[in-house]
Amino acid sequence: MYLLTALGFTLFSTIAAQVDPKATNETKNLYKYLKTVSRDETQILIGQQEFTWLGAEGGHPPYLTDTLQHGRFSAWIYGDYQAKTQQPDDLCDVKRMTGSYPAILGMDLGDRSYKPNITSHWLGRRAYERNEIITLSIHFKNPVTGGSPWIGRDKGDTLKTVKRLLPGGDHNSKLNEVLDEVASWAHSFTDSQGKLIPAIFRYLHELNGGWFWWGLNNKAQNTAQELQELYRYTVQYLRDQKGVHNFLYAYSPDKFASKDDYLKTYPGDDYVDIFGMDWYYASPSDLKTTLHRSVKDVVEMAEKRNKVPALTETGYMGDGINKFPNFWQEYILDILKSEPTTKRIAFVHTWSNHCYGNAYCEIWVPYKGHPAESAFVTNFYNDSLTIFSNQLPQSIY
Ligand SMILES: *[C@@H]1O[C@H](CO)[C@@H](O)[C@H](O)[C@H]1NC(C)=O
Ligand SMILES: *[C@@H]1O[C@H](CO)[C@@H](O)[C@H](O)[C@H]1NC(C)=O
Ligand SMILES: *[C@@H]1O[C@H](CO)[C@@H](O)[C@H](O)[C@H]1NC(C)=O
Repeated sequence: MYLLTALGFTLFSTIAAQVDPKATNETKNLYKYLKTVSRDETQILIGQQEFTWLGAEGGHPPYLTDTLQHGRFSAWIYGDYQAKTQQPDDLCDVKRMTGSYPAILGMDLGDRSYKPNITSHWLGRRAYERNEIITLSIHFKNPVTGGSPWIGRDKGDTLKTVKRLLPGGDHNSKLNEVLDEVASWAHSFTDSQGKLIPAIFRYLHELNGGWFWWGLNNKAQNTAQELQELYRYTVQYLRDQKGVHNFLYAYSPDKFASKDDYLKTYPGDDYVDIFGMDWYYASPSDLKTTLHRSVKDVVEMAEKRNKVPALTETGYMGDGINKFPNFWQEYILDILKSEPTTKRIAFVHTWSNHCYGNAYCEIWVPYKGHPAESAFVTNFYNDSLTIFSNQLPQSIY
């Protein structure tokens, strides 16, 4: 790094070091692999949140099944008790349809607990041992109010939270407590040999949106500078204070109008490995052409800085898969295929098929027996561009 700086800015900026120069070899190798896949116009990795943790296909012992019925399905949940006894994670909606797990497993440190969690560690390890890739978001409680990540569900004072968490703010130590838990999660995320498993840490996701306390909006009243500072502070804290060396760092704003708009809260090239974007079809005004432009923007911005572009969350809200059985081809794959640039997105990741407590379920991909199953298998899974777990090379890490 020092040598390169001496050789001059141009060379330095094309080499673009990883955020953590002390990252473990496995983490560095993962980044190299993601870069190779992203520059390759013939491969896009496909991922899903919690695909071995939660699912919609109706109930298979010994999985816990949600007793609440919603339409034709009830849910399954892989429970802590199964992780404790190291039971296989063989149920997965995507695998039951296609024979393969997705290539990327999304997990979340949750609004319930940031603590090392037996289930996330076990399911993450199982995925890693299949050579899959782990990403980690964090829907964390507001450290000032103790309330929900969603401003709308918090009765406390959510204004200017970010400023209060930064050094000099009255709740900086509360933020540090959370980050200490994140670090201890990372330090105990290991394979069966005790070796650290890499994860893509997708911190402050959708930070340009209006729904989380870390949002850039009137309800939260954070500034772009404060959000950048919080991101940088966190990277430094985890990497330099706590010695976390198994993270890649992803920046993933929600919908954006232009490159400048995307970069409004960008913490800087030294703090970001992956240029993510969360983009859902949520209403008729969300057009394929907008998704196309946005993916293209992200690929171009990432390549310019020698980073990795990714579509970190996408899908059709409101169980759109029920209305548009060929969604994954028509609304996603065809857009990515429309030109060489958009084929250079490294991965596409969707949310979990899951049920909440009160007879309300959300699905993003079909499950075995769902009317959209054959379209998903034939037109999406079977397309040569999409890479699932069974097509990953043995040599990622
Ligand atoms: C990491 O990789 C480097 C270069 O390939 C090697 O020299 C080093 O021994 C590796 N470190 C570990 C801990 O395996
Ligand atoms: C692990 O996380 C899940 C999901 O957040 C939660 O339901 C479960 O209680 C946690 N387990 C432990 C042991 O903390
Ligand atoms: C998948 O594609 C192969 C050839 O590319 C074809 O033989 C097979 O029938 C397809 N399977 C499905 C389910 O579409």
